[in-house]
Amino acid sequence: MKVISTVFELQSWLKRMRLSPIGFVPTMGALHEGHLSLVSNAVQHCPVVVVSIFVNPTQFNDKNDLKNYPRTPESDLLLLSKVMRESDLVFLPGVKEIYPEPDTREFHFGNLEKVMEALHRPGHFNGVAQVVSRLFEIVNPDIAFFGLKDFQQLAVIKSLVKQTGNKVMIIGNPIVREEDGLAMSSRNRLLDHEIRLNASIIFKTISAASAMLKEHDIPEIKSFIVQSIDKVQGYSVEYFEIVDDINLLPVSSKAEMMKDKRYFGCIAVQAGKIRLIDNIEIGLV
Ligand code: PAF
Repeated sequence: MKVISTVFELQSWLKRMRLSPIGFVPTMGALHEGHLSLVSNAVQHCPVVVVSIFVNPTQFNDKNDLKNYPRTPESDLLLLSKVMRESDLVFLPGVKEIYPEPDTREFHFGNLEKVMEALHRPGHFNGVAQVVSRLFEIVNPDIAFFGLKDFQQLAVIKSLVKQTGNKVMIIGNPIVREEDGLAMSSRNRLLDHEIRLNASIIFKTISAASAMLKEHDIPEIKSFIVQSIDKVQGYSVEYFEIVDDINLLPVSSKAEMMKDKRYFGCIAVQAGKIRLIDNIEIGLV
């Protein structure tokens, strides 16, 4: 694989290769198995794949989060070299390359900006839309791959693509989990040892939600989830919502759930100093 840092080099390489479809995996680095599964999927379907590594400042609503976000470029490149081919590119741009001028664009996502992550991280999805639209402009991919862990982000990106008339196909890849069930995330490496030991509580608890639907309604399920997680030292649930996978509208009772829709239980948890998110499909029983 080739490692480059400018838009000019990237576009010249893609022009020279003349391969299609172009696959694209945008990342913020600190790569783990979840990212590698996206890259492997892209490599399987596309003769040329671009992986970008760029910690996008505009999507951080918390300055400390941006400062502390893990940066591991050497190990990232080593991991990528194991799954990428000669024709593939790693794009490691600086801030000026992505934003020659400050990006003041404002995006709107209707209901998607009124629920869950959007409420708790104001401005976050606008920053994601800024960087993803800019990266799409630079790479001009045919297929782009995102992880389903960032469930709301995926819905936002699908909406962005629709709004901008971009023809890129968006693929959502299943969550990859640690052995104890913790969803893989670049932030997991920031968890304190004690907190990490108990982190399986999140997946264990949300996994019970589907079965609980048989005999309980949503408010009871929510309080079960909040109580089970909050009683673990250092853990506190920020929200748990059951939403449909298109508009992400939260449902407040079983009666509102429709047979022809898919539903997901989405959770955000403060785990010590680190904020984690996860989700699971909720089957109607
Ligand atoms: O999911 C991420 O890592 C980021 O939000 C993304 C899509 C790479 C944009 O910076």
